[in-house]
Amino acid sequence: MQTSELTREAAAPGKRRVFSGIQPSGEVQLGNYLGAIKGWVERQEDKTNFFCLVDLHAITVYQEPEELRRQTRSLAAILFAAGLDPDKSTVFIQSHVPAHAEACWILNCVTPMGWLERMTQFKDKSANQERVSAGLLDYPVLMAGDILLYDTHEVPVGEDQRQHVELARDIAERFNRVYGETFVVPEAVIAEAGARVMGLNDPTAKMSKSFSHIRGHAVGVLDEPKEIERSFKRAVTDSGNEITFSDDPERAGVNNLLGIYKVITGRSSSQVEGDFVDARGYGDLKARVAEVVIEELAPIQKRYHEIMDDVGELDRLLARGAEHAASVSTPKMDEVKEKVGFTLPRS
Ligand code: AMP
Ligand code: TRP
Repeated sequence: MQTSELTREAAAPGKRRVFSGIQPSGEVQLGNYLGAIKGWVERQEDKTNFFCLVDLHAITVYQEPEELRRQTRSLAAILFAAGLDPDKSTVFIQSHVPAHAEACWILNCVTPMGWLERMTQFKDKSANQERVSAGLLDYPVLMAGDILLYDTHEVPVGEDQRQHVELARDIAERFNRVYGETFVVPEAVIAEAGARVMGLNDPTAKMSKSFSHIRGHAVGVLDEPKEIERSFKRAVTDSGNEITFSDDPERAGVNNLLGIYKVITGRSSSQVEGDFVDARGYGDLKARVAEVVIEELAPIQKRYHEIMDDVGELDRLLARGAEHAASVSTPKMDEVKEKVGFTLPRS
């Protein structure tokens, strides 16, 4: 039997393997950055990291083709600009590595429909839609394939993806039971701070790319400083004046603003509250939060534009990433095919 390099490595007490994905649909917003990307960058040392631009996932809802192509490159540039280092992290485009779609098919065949119909993201995304693609239902199986192909230990994501990672665990366990030990059972890693950045216009709904067109909802990672100031100025708060963390739904707006400030500054909750004891009302709070966001994003935006000035180099980095990803996932896929009883073509 053929054993992939990683499976052997998995048996050794080597580096922890990290896999995460992000969709190249819509502009990258502050929730993606604080809930996912920032943590990926900070924790890329001493681990084997794979970060995947999941274009196969993106088309589960219609994407304008030229726009998808543009957003995919732009997202890659944002990831490198934010500090993912191609020598420490493999950054690649999902559709460049055929093993992902192949894994999805085989895993489909061990996944009961009922598991998929229960997914809250599917229920939310399909609600009030006239037509829902089979791809939307199947989305978490594709995601399970992404994760399992790399013998992943840790999946750093925002809170909204916890259920999908749980499903990937269930699928791995079921496959292992039916066909014998094959996959590492992964774990979601969800940082407490930043895990759920809420919309500025409505602090009861998570900040999301799909609402980016709504004025004042999201802050784009590439937004100009003036725009960022404006978005925060308009942020919904409450009629009080207390600047403290709180889980009172009435005060969700202020809580969200403090949460954003907390992840960016890396300060504790009491330090953050201390920083605002002298604040003159919510106007002051909003201005100071906008200021730390602008400062955090400025160097990323600068590097982003430098990278986009040389897309040839960007494409080379992505090709290198895909080549490395394929060198790991292709042998794993061969192992899976062998386990389920396929004949492998002679090479
Ligand atoms: P997506 O844009 O759906 O591909 O999400 C990419 C990553 O960003 C995932 O790990 C999500 O959990 C995370 N994410 C998206 N929106 C938010 C948010 N509002 N707060 C925190 N994390 C988020
Ligand atoms: N579904 C994830 C999201 O929308 C993106 C994703 C696809 C992913 N494949 C993954 C995240 C594998 C972690 C691991 O955020």
